[in-house]
Amino acid sequence: MTAARAASAAPTAAAAPVAPAANEPRTARASHTGSGPGAAAAAAPEEQHTGCGPRRRLRAGLVGLGVMGRNHARILSALDGVEFVGVVDPAGAPHTGGPLPPGVPVLREVADLLALGVDYAVVACPTALHEEVGLQLAAHDVCALLEKPLAHTPEAARRLVHAFEERGLVAGVGHVERFNPALQQLRTRLEAGELGDLFQVVTRRQGPFPHRIADVGVVKDLATHDIDLTSWITGQGYASLSARTVSKSGREHEDMVAVVGSLTGGTMVSHLVNWLSPLKERFTAVTGERGCFVADTLTADLTFHANGAVATEWEALRAFRGVAEGDAVRYAFPKREPLLVEHERFRDAVREGTGEGSGIVTARDGLRTVEVSAAVLQSAREAGRVRGGAPPAGGDAAGPLDPLVVASPVGTATAAPDPGGPAPHDAAVHDPVVLHDPTIPHDPTAPINAEHTA
Ligand SMILES: NC(=O)c1ccc[n+]([C@@H]2O[C@H](COP(=O)([O-])OP(=O)(O)OC[C@H]3O[C@@H](n4cnc5c(N)ncnc54)[C@H](O)[C@@H]3O)[C@@H](O)[C@H]2O)c1
Repeated sequence: MTAARAASAAPTAAAAPVAPAANEPRTARASHTGSGPGAAAAAAPEEQHTGCGPRRRLRAGLVGLGVMGRNHARILSALDGVEFVGVVDPAGAPHTGGPLPPGVPVLREVADLLALGVDYAVVACPTALHEEVGLQLAAHDVCALLEKPLAHTPEAARRLVHAFEERGLVAGVGHVERFNPALQQLRTRLEAGELGDLFQVVTRRQGPFPHRIADVGVVKDLATHDIDLTSWITGQGYASLSARTVSKSGREHEDMVAVVGSLTGGTMVSHLVNWLSPLKERFTAVTGERGCFVADTLTADLTFHANGAVATEWEALRAFRGVAEGDAVRYAFPKREPLLVEHERFRDAVREGTGEGSGIVTARDGLRTVEVSAAVLQSAREAGRVRGGAPPAGGDAAGPLDPLVVASPVGTATAAPDPGGPAPHDAAVHDPVVLHDPTIPHDPTAPINAEHTA
């Protein structure tokens, strides 16, 4: 029986935070070389259990000790109820002053970690390797918290979902913005109907290029945060979208994207995301019937700008301000570190033996986001084709705006009427990428469409 499956028999009280007792038995570092669900085999005899709930310490490993992996290592080193047993990184531990506690080995291969026996592993290696590493963990009945994006393609993401689901293993995705207190507050207030009808979600995620492996572009690496959080705070999927990308830094993948789209509930969205800005910005604004919420996920601040109820008699000011400006409120709430909360939720889900209803971002959620990111890239590629030639030197994939193309607010572009003959553009390739029929209510539990229709 796997650790997760064993734990699934535990009562729900197992989800309660674990306060390690002073006399809690410590697990001897395992030296066994067996494969398969290692935790039970590797645990010291006094810790072996059959779903004994809160007191059980889980054995966790980490794959990838780069920029993000070091953050995970810091959290795993001090996570209640978890023993951090080892790290895999073929580059070793080149980072001095790192957060590894004494005695946590840095291993070369995932197989070495499996041999130590783990209940779950955090996967923070380059995105293109998530599939290979995730499938290896699943094959050995090990649960996984995979960094975002879940995988580099929808096909790879689908294979991961199936591998973990068919074995009944818990798989989560590191969309850490969901644990940002500002967005958690925002979602709660939207769910309570504080904004009324939702008109628009705008996100901006701008900053300089990160010094790390760039095996995917800014759409898969960064915009996936925006895609996931937008769906999550609104409870809506993506219905259609249109996008433009540019690649200015000479790297293989795009480094700037603009997305306009519509959600299944009719809310309009826009995302501006890049690695080309000398300023760092993490901005989410939701505008609705009663005003606008603005979340800054760098500072975890949430502000509400209410529509004004007081009419002004000062005509000039009314014209300048547009809709009436009301009160602005910046809320006070507890601010816990999002990555720590993500780890706590995942640990508890592994203990419970299920990701459903546990508050983790499931692999299925991660797959949907990867699918939307693929649609963003598809739309950007097709926009480039409309120009009928190779991108100009300098790599601007979409090229300058064509004055004959008129875009609707949701990005549906149509060729302007041409009385003299057929339109010079193929209007079909300008259509937004359609992900869901907006007339069908969004069901987050519904099976995922294998194909997008363009
Ligand atoms: N949630 C977030 O906010 C967030 C932030 C940054 C990165 N990430 C994600 O984390 C992942 C890693 O990004 P990063 O910024 O840490 O990259 P990075 O380049 O800093 O680190 C990657 C590490 O993986 C190691 N590695 C390479 N091949 C490996 C293998 N086969 N097995 C184990 N380790 C291997 C490398 O040696 C390197 O140390 C990416 O998927 C990225 O999208 C998430």
